[in-house]
Amino acid sequence: MLKLEHVSTTIGTHHVIHDVSLEIAAGSCVALLGGNGAGKSTLFRTIAGLVAPTTGTITFKGRTISHLPADRIVRRGLALCPEGRQLFPGLTVHKNLMLGAHTVKDRKKVADALEQVYALFPVLGERARQLAGTFSGGEQQMLAMGRALMSRPQLLLLDEPSIGLAPLVVEGIADAIQSLNRMGMTIFLSEQNARIALMITRYGYVLENGALVIEGPSSTLMHNSVVRKAYLGT
Ligand SMILES: Nc1ncnc2c1ncn2[C@@H]1O[C@H](COP(=O)(O)OP(=O)(O)OP(=O)(O)O)[C@@H](O)[C@H]1O
Ligand SMILES: [Mg+2]
Repeated sequence: MLKLEHVSTTIGTHHVIHDVSLEIAAGSCVALLGGNGAGKSTLFRTIAGLVAPTTGTITFKGRTISHLPADRIVRRGLALCPEGRQLFPGLTVHKNLMLGAHTVKDRKKVADALEQVYALFPVLGERARQLAGTFSGGEQQMLAMGRALMSRPQLLLLDEPSIGLAPLVVEGIADAIQSLNRMGMTIFLSEQNARIALMITRYGYVLENGALVIEGPSSTLMHNSVVRKAYLGT
């Protein structure tokens, strides 16, 4: 579904992503592991069209997207749930969700998407008129994911959904990611929390200093000595 071939990204004069090639199959749930500053967010922003790659090709559903602006990529069915949630705290939950639907013109499709988001995260429906800024960290993460889902994506990029959340709340988010994947959504998940990421994915990539250094089935990565030392603290 998604293919990166020799993708590099430069921000200013800083070479952040170096020659990244990877593939995400339709229906899969794949992890992108890496520490602070490894380049996870920059790689996701490059895929989503928020930063242009300096070299390489990104193909989504068989067509090149590396030259497209972000909104056209969203229209093709690829959504990014950004790091830090990036909500509008002074707007209601409902308004924040609607912002994610601006590329969808058909009102019936918007209503369907909203219904699906409320089914996945009931708290968003129950408190739709409340301001986003009054929500807890975990609820804000649900809202950020809900907003990304409003564009009805086939591929969802999730940038560090667990960051800053208590373990029990992380479990709830992990359950939601797994149910989305079971419903057929393809998921590419970046995490510093390797434990949770490897638990809910089938395959993973490890990014260090902007380059992929290890890849393999999540069950194998979990027992890889480098991964265990650097990301699992064992
Ligand atoms: N807009 C920018 N201007 C300058 N440098 C940037 C910019 N965005 C990213 N970088 C640099 O690129 C590198 C990778 O950053 P990035 O945010 O992609 O890493 P990350 O893996 O997402 O880290 P974290 O886990 O902390 O979110 C860092 O050295 C960062 O300082
Ligand atoms: Mg990041």
